[in-house]
Amino acid sequence: MPGIRRREMLAGLAALHCGRAAAHDDAGPLLVPLARIGEGEQLRIAWRGQPVFVRHRSAAEIAAVRAVPLSTLRDPERDEDRTRDPDWLVVIGRCTHEGCEPFAGLGDDGGWLCLCHGSQFDLSGRVRKGPAPTNLPVPPHHFPVRTMLAIGGGGA
Ligand code: FES
Repeated sequence: MPGIRRREMLAGLAALHCGRAAAHDDAGPLLVPLARIGEGEQLRIAWRGQPVFVRHRSAAEIAAVRAVPLSTLRDPERDEDRTRDPDWLVVIGRCTHEGCEPFAGLGDDGGWLCLCHGSQFDLSGRVRKGPAPTNLPVPPHHFPVRTMLAIGGGGA
């Protein structure tokens, strides 16, 4: 856990240094360099005053979330419809129950656990347990080049 937080902080500083301030979305997207986020790591950044999780997923993780039958999901969404590049999951890090920030690497599905009331989200950001009614939202984003994520702004 401390390792994840340290990596998140360092990568977040890099993102803020290279990107524009999140509050100035009208001026353009928040640019996030991806090269330093290793497979299995997560970057936490701020965008429009909210935490955003950028998760670099492995092939096995992608296959696992895509194999989940939609009939077992409370808020059925295909992973293919929640990602623009399967290697990268980008979600707003606010639990859809009462807005707490979930923690990475906890929970049964390797995704996020909200400690407030126990909601769990898988590596597609889909709710799997607990009182959260819906999945973690996916912010508008795109990849102007393979090594750069753009959140918000035009082209998302
Ligand atoms: S705020 Fe996350 S489970 Fe209640």
